[in-house]
Amino acid sequence: MEKNFKRTMVTAALPYANGGIHIGHLAGVYVPADIYVRYLRLKHQDVCFVCGTDEHGVPVTIRARKENCTPRDVVDKYYGLIKKSFEDFGIEFDYFGRTTSDTQRDTASHFFKTIYEKGGFVEQESEQYYDEEAKTFLADRYIVGECPHCHNQGAYGDQCEKCGSALSPTELINPHSTVSGSKPVLRKTKHWYLPLDQHQPWLEKWILEDHKEWRSNVYGQCKSWLDTGLKPRAVSRDLDWGIPVPVAEAEGKVLYVWFDAPIGYISNTRDLHPTDWEKWWKDPETRLIHFIGKDNIVFHCIVFPAMLKAMGDYILPDNVPANEFLNLEDDKISTSKNWAVWLHEYNADFPGKQDVLRYVLTANAPETKDNNFTWKDFQARNNNELVAVYGNFVNRALVLTQKYYDGIVPALGELTDYDRQTISEFRDVKARVESLLDKFHFRDAQKEAMDLARIGNKYLAESEPWKVVKTDPERVKTILHLSLQLVANLSIAFEPFLPFSSRRLREMLNLTAFSWEDLGRTDLLGEGHQLGQAALLFEKIEDSVVEAQVQKLLDTKKANEAAEAHPAPVGEPCSIDDFARLDIRVGTVLACEKVAKSNKLLQFKIDDGLGGRTILSGIAQHYQPEDLVGKQVCFIANLPARKMMGIESQGMILSAVAPDGSLKVTTVEQPVKPGSQVQ
Ligand code: 2FM
Ligand code: ZN
Repeated sequence: MEKNFKRTMVTAALPYANGGIHIGHLAGVYVPADIYVRYLRLKHQDVCFVCGTDEHGVPVTIRARKENCTPRDVVDKYYGLIKKSFEDFGIEFDYFGRTTSDTQRDTASHFFKTIYEKGGFVEQESEQYYDEEAKTFLADRYIVGECPHCHNQGAYGDQCEKCGSALSPTELINPHSTVSGSKPVLRKTKHWYLPLDQHQPWLEKWILEDHKEWRSNVYGQCKSWLDTGLKPRAVSRDLDWGIPVPVAEAEGKVLYVWFDAPIGYISNTRDLHPTDWEKWWKDPETRLIHFIGKDNIVFHCIVFPAMLKAMGDYILPDNVPANEFLNLEDDKISTSKNWAVWLHEYNADFPGKQDVLRYVLTANAPETKDNNFTWKDFQARNNNELVAVYGNFVNRALVLTQKYYDGIVPALGELTDYDRQTISEFRDVKARVESLLDKFHFRDAQKEAMDLARIGNKYLAESEPWKVVKTDPERVKTILHLSLQLVANLSIAFEPFLPFSSRRLREMLNLTAFSWEDLGRTDLLGEGHQLGQAALLFEKIEDSVVEAQVQKLLDTKKANEAAEAHPAPVGEPCSIDDFARLDIRVGTVLACEKVAKSNKLLQFKIDDGLGGRTILSGIAQHYQPEDLVGKQVCFIANLPARKMMGIESQGMILSAVAPDGSLKVTTVEQPVKPGSQVQ
């Protein structure tokens, strides 16, 4: 029996604040979550949609070490970047918080203390690697050694990235610490464990018997964990970045990031609704839905529910519609290899085209299996579906109404059988889309909405009002009246999927009041209603635009290959005189900006101690221009000036290729006077 709920609490996985958001994250989590929430809001349901950044844990400390800054610097930077890119893209959270907030410290500490006081943890001592030089326990990722399986020398303490084996640090041959380079020693340490084995019986019933409706990938993964038998999981770590374990004997220990992060959903709700947050998390009449990617299934279906159960007064998730992964141009998306389409870059490269990416990611949503994104498909779906089907129908209906009736909705005359058949084809679209969205089948639901446009296109093509107008002008009124009703239906049906275009379309229709309940109606625009200004809803994407994106990826691939072959063999010998002919100097970056219409070039204004100069450098994909201002960089000062994109470049900035293929400008260890020579 379907239960009736009063409200829906929707969470979207908290992204780590150690990098940007890419299309894999969007397709897996944020686009479907946003569609679902927009749909519920359209139906006037009580919904709360929270997300935020996951700011603790080893991934952040690793990034800080790489970027030679503090974890706080890292999370501040990426919190801002991620929040803005979601906003620009139209993912409309009710609240976007951070796990470093005071509320989170308070809520997570309360969770730990409550479960601790109830005897809900077990304490265990274990031996873990300790770096005696750096005086710190080492997270698995900070230990590198030889893989016992494939003998790769650079395997991590948790995984060998070459052969894919999962490892524990003690399996590594000749381990060393990446913090100090020294050989780590095993030391005893105490941690608190959530005894998942004790939770197994109720979890088995709750998932395997009561939630057979969960997606088969989610259900299957849970079943496999349960069949293997759950084991206790440590909820604390020896680390200096995180929420301190709030009991006296836990000095130097923090909450494990996976204990901390899901509690972030609750803290973010508390910050949004300080006085009545509890109804969202404790009232059995609230339905809790977690949108996540498949790598997070165990934490949301087993670990977090066990924590909630241990607290005693929380509700459990009703559904966890996890997606599989999205590949990019047939390769696995990889942050470390920069094999990704980054949301902030898409927003910059395709302003106003949020809906195109939303459409393509939903059309290819990895709902049941891994799926693939290609720029060719992106272009084809835009040109052949959004432009040629949806946009074309809307445009024809609006332009003809403008032409024949000055943009005023004409009267509905007598219906033909063909009209009736067309109406019956779109009248039950609401039921079809709803039933799919209610089951989290976003890809098929969007297809239903698109079919509505196909119906419209076919109707216009077969009714041929542009011909009929010569012989039977009264009939044209009916054809356009019905076509406009279809257009109005499209603006509603697509609202959860393509909110920007739906809004624009409603402006063109001058349709102000609308609701999901209106979907399927044939009287949305009354006779005599004045339409707004018609404009193109979608634009064709030219070959050159997608080719530039493909080229960007090819450049990344090339840089990765170069980095893998690193270090490059030493070049041809050169004489000291050859070297002396190069005038390498240090300059201070006074200003730096992207060169318009170029994906690669940054334009620098350099203080070279000689009155200043302009230099162009092809590193736009590797830096935010503002991050370079104030830095001192090495440049070749005596190259002939060269014009690129109409700008004269007076020199060349030197950069090194990092192991991940990215470029890093060469700088000096201590500030020097601008113009100083490099010897
Ligand atoms: O996998 C990840 O990116 C995690 N930061 C997701 C956390 S989801 C939730 F638990 F906060
Ligand atoms: Zn290996």
